[in-house]
Amino acid sequence: MDELRERTNPVFNTAKATLLHLTKAGNADAAMMAETLGLDLAGMTHSDEGKTAMGQSNVAIVELRYRSMNAFIEATGAKTVVDLPCGYTPRALEDFIADKRYIACDLPAEAEEMGPLIEGILARRGQKRDVAYHGVDATNYASLRAALKGVEGPLCVTTEGLLMYLADAELVALMDNVRRILKEFGGVWITQDPKVGRVYIAMTVAAQSRDPAAAQAAMEALAGGTDMGTVLKTMAGDQGQSTLNASKNTFGGAADVKFGNVLNYRPEQAEAAMKESLRAHGLKVELTPLAARMPELQSLSPERTQIARQALERVNLWTITPDGAGSGSQSEADGAFGVDMTVDGGKLAVTLRGRVDSLTAPEFLAAFEKAAEGRTLTAAAVDMSNLAYISSAGLRVLLIMTKRVGGGHLTVTGANEIVRSIFEQTGYDDILTLK
Ligand SMILES: C[S@@+](CC[C@H](N)C(=O)[O-])C[C@H]1O[C@@H](n2cnc3c(N)ncnc32)[C@H](O)[C@@H]1O
Repeated sequence: MDELRERTNPVFNTAKATLLHLTKAGNADAAMMAETLGLDLAGMTHSDEGKTAMGQSNVAIVELRYRSMNAFIEATGAKTVVDLPCGYTPRALEDFIADKRYIACDLPAEAEEMGPLIEGILARRGQKRDVAYHGVDATNYASLRAALKGVEGPLCVTTEGLLMYLADAELVALMDNVRRILKEFGGVWITQDPKVGRVYIAMTVAAQSRDPAAAQAAMEALAGGTDMGTVLKTMAGDQGQSTLNASKNTFGGAADVKFGNVLNYRPEQAEAAMKESLRAHGLKVELTPLAARMPELQSLSPERTQIARQALERVNLWTITPDGAGSGSQSEADGAFGVDMTVDGGKLAVTLRGRVDSLTAPEFLAAFEKAAEGRTLTAAAVDMSNLAYISSAGLRVLLIMTKRVGGGHLTVTGANEIVRSIFEQTGYDDILTLK
């Protein structure tokens, strides 16, 4: 099952790399957890990562994100923290969590690895904490609601390092889910600038440039709508671009997440679109400059921390709450997942029901592998008439199927409007035949 999960949700290395970066930033719990997990940290990075300016800014970005998020969580005053996704951070062990209920949510594989690990550490230390790890899919309301069973609000829901991985339709599902949860329990959803462009530039400048004015100029250009590639080029000439390219190869080329076309990316536009989308889904946003809760960073000198602090005046933490007036677009009647497969003379017929997301995609893949085993498949027809939703984990299974039957030989019928728009947004409508 673990192998099927990794193939449908290949984001694990990136989450584990947080431990590496926090270790490098001097977090002793992170170092201990990494060792206990047996992570080959050296193998996950460039040999010179950490020594180079690039490595330095990656460490600083993660340290900043993690520690300022801790400070913001504390400042909300909420007694229940829903950390979505918790990844492999040592947050459960932080002092400020001691008097709170900490509900750590991530995909099942991560949650199942982290839960016993943290439990073991707390037991060894003789500490009692209200900490629980839950396997969820952020786009799946029922899984989030199950994690909140018996919980009292108000909540502080955090999303840290998640939004940039979600396709538009997944983001919408997440917004609907968080809105429903906050309506029921009260509280806030906090997240850093939803798209990481500004933090990335601010910290890269801070780690590399000697000139505070360069940081300001870069942030002003981004605020004016300029794209990342142009800003980097202005900042550091061609070297800026090669730095960015190098960052895509962080983790020794094993980065398992597509960063999209980072050079053309315009944070201002992306954030405006996100704000509009939040509004359309019954949520309102308040912005607080990240600099307001920025700690002294271990991974940057005081002088460079100061440069970062200035640049981060333009990077915000977003506090999101339900807007009484909005209606949201709750997609309720999703139904339980189900899949049937039959093979007739090399032709595979598939019927899907309910939701295919990170929780159910491994089952979908297992059913396909069983049906396909030892056979030559020449075509596949997937009936989606009873499918409510498909996430990128489900799309990966369709891609695996397409590779097996040959491009153009996978036909989809009955896709509803949501599913159809997911195909269109991701370009899958070019890979399969949509009828
Ligand atoms: C870059 S990590 C961030 C984790 C942590 N907050 C941190 O800062 O290190 C991204 C995390 O998102 C999780 N993830 C990806 N898709 C998800 C989904 N649909 N639902 C819940 N978690 C998801 C991954 O398992 C991974 O742990």
